[in-house]
Amino acid sequence: MKRSKVPATREEYLRLVSEVERHDRLYYVEAAPEIGDAEYDALYRLLLSAEEIHPEWVEEDSPTRRVGAPVAGDLPQVAHEPRLYSLGNTYSSGELEDFHRRVLQQLGRGKPDAGEGPSGELEPEPASPTEITGPEPVYHCELKLDGASVSLLYERGRLRVAASRGDGLVGDDVSAAVRTIANLPLRLQSPDPPARLVLRGEVVMDRDTFRRLNRERREEGRPEFANPRNAAAGTLKLLDPAEVRRRSLKIFLYDIAVMEGGGTSAEPNQRPGPPATQAEQLAWLRRAGLPVFTHHRRCAGLSAVLEYCREWEERRDELGVEIDGVVVKLDRLDQRGRLGWTAKIPRWAMAYKFPAEVKTTRLLRIGYQVGRTGVITPVAELEPVFLQGSTVSRATLHNEEEIRRRGIREGMLVRVEKGGDVIPKVLGPAGEERELPEFRMIERCPRCGASLVRSEEEVAWRCPAADCPAVLEAVVLHFVSRRAMDIDGLGERLVLALVASGRVRRPADLYTLSAGELAGLERMGEKSAARVRTGIMASLKRDPARLLFALGIRHVGENAARILLARYGSIRILSGIPREELEKLEDVGPRIAASLEDWFGSEGGAAVLERLSAVGFDLERISAAFRQEARDGEVQGPFEGLNVVLTGNLKSMNRDEARRRLESSGARVRGSVSLRTDLVVAGEAAGSKLQRADELDIPVIDEQEFLRRLAES
Ligand code: IVH
Repeated sequence: MKRSKVPATREEYLRLVSEVERHDRLYYVEAAPEIGDAEYDALYRLLLSAEEIHPEWVEEDSPTRRVGAPVAGDLPQVAHEPRLYSLGNTYSSGELEDFHRRVLQQLGRGKPDAGEGPSGELEPEPASPTEITGPEPVYHCELKLDGASVSLLYERGRLRVAASRGDGLVGDDVSAAVRTIANLPLRLQSPDPPARLVLRGEVVMDRDTFRRLNRERREEGRPEFANPRNAAAGTLKLLDPAEVRRRSLKIFLYDIAVMEGGGTSAEPNQRPGPPATQAEQLAWLRRAGLPVFTHHRRCAGLSAVLEYCREWEERRDELGVEIDGVVVKLDRLDQRGRLGWTAKIPRWAMAYKFPAEVKTTRLLRIGYQVGRTGVITPVAELEPVFLQGSTVSRATLHNEEEIRRRGIREGMLVRVEKGGDVIPKVLGPAGEERELPEFRMIERCPRCGASLVRSEEEVAWRCPAADCPAVLEAVVLHFVSRRAMDIDGLGERLVLALVASGRVRRPADLYTLSAGELAGLERMGEKSAARVRTGIMASLKRDPARLLFALGIRHVGENAARILLARYGSIRILSGIPREELEKLEDVGPRIAASLEDWFGSEGGAAVLERLSAVGFDLERISAAFRQEARDGEVQGPFEGLNVVLTGNLKSMNRDEARRRLESSGARVRGSVSLRTDLVVAGEAAGSKLQRADELDIPVIDEQEFLRRLAES
């Protein structure tokens, strides 16, 4: 359709909206554009003009609205319903075999009808692997895109909310950012869109964009992203949609978590009803105009799965985006239902992760870094090499002993490895014959010149100077870092300037900075100074688990900090717990317990806490993890450990609400009645499930009884 006139009626306007949407889809999703860029731009401009003349016509999800106004302040939180699961991980084909064996066992293979239909009711004794007969289960193999996972809610075909993964239960509302993603339709291509559709997928940044972004950041003196995954996740958190759009993220969907009310009408050549397999789910998503990653395969049995994994381990560099493995899922959804989930992961899926890539490059020089405890770490300065999605030019060398033991010398070719998000490391010499001088460790602090010391039991050398600027910087940088207090706008450059100016000698000093003082610093406008100050002050309200980690107590990592505060609630309470008690906690152990006791008992530690309290930290503040733990502890409700099936309509609440309340009082809610079902909750107009429960002699309760038992919990 050729068009050159601005729409004159709302009807024409709506038609133009659909047309632009269609071209967006053809271009971004199907990669099969029908018109050229110029023609597209002309259409888009007509749309803009129409919307300028008739603001009252504008559709909330018009293609022009993808870039909205910047969001103000912190992102609101969104509860995930259902929760986002993680995946079991493996790096070995042996473990994939174990997974396959468990699948076979749990599917109860060995009976004639096993593997056919929802036959969970007739659960046989688990078959021993040698008895397995019949057709192999079919797996759906997908590439494990290395990005940021998101959950999308479409209501009646329109994108309503997009949320980041968060902890799987609650995430950030990243709708504004996600709406700018060009290959995501804001409206589904479906004559009969479901009333409620919850989808799961991965937001990725392609390698070219990643490189461009890092080049720009380098030029601006800002820290680079370690890998495309961090870049994608960081971009989603940006509050300015125009900047997000500039970073051209892409999204690919891989799961339909909820599909309610519609969406299942038959199309030509299509089986009616909701998708019954993963392959059908992906086909459904595609038909709705949603982006699905191009490569995936149905594999019957284990050897086809292993073949797929091997193939993509070889071919991973061919793709424009990073992948870090293959996700192996049971194809049939009814079989998934029979295997179920543990608290965190589905039993019907497994991630096969590719081993870390290793490359050879030249070690140009050995430099030194001073850590926040004064420890001096030798750092390899490398000839830049492209490794798993990013250019690596520095890598850790651990300590003096390691370097000697491995025979590493300046100037030699070395093998470098990068696994996941950890810092790349030098594995050892690459086997080149060359006479090079042996490594010699420095004897003085590269920053302040103090003589380095080393205690008997340690391998590391430290700078003993209490006021070594490198140590102060490292302490403050750790405190403000993303995993600790996560202070927005307080980047490395600014921290270094603050420490250099003498105004900040410890983290607590940050909280007494005025906007005026900040603005007085190099390259700081009034506006950004105000923003940084707001960020600093907002961090006073961070969870105490973050604060505990931010304190930088030796051996107390993020995980330990969370566990300790989940157990004791506040930093104040924790400070009074004796070491013998701390030691007994799972994941804490004697090393951490001793370190905590030393720190809390020391004058230095007490002074740090006092100063933090003086600048506004509430050390009595209770951690969210503690409250969660308390709630979980209460779970021993009337439904603890039961497999419950809901059927019929309840008058006092809808299905989702009932499911949530059951789950939060300990039940596992299942879709169909089987011998494993412990209880059926039957509302009005309950049908075949109720009948099935009767046949199998499974207890049934009505709504009144259900409410009574809920009230008990
Ligand atoms: S399935 C219950 N499929 O990998 C199933 N995950 O822990 C859960 N991922 O960050 C995930 N590509 O976002 C699945 N094709 C794919 C995936 C995929 C990437 C990510 C996912 C999550 C992690 C799994």
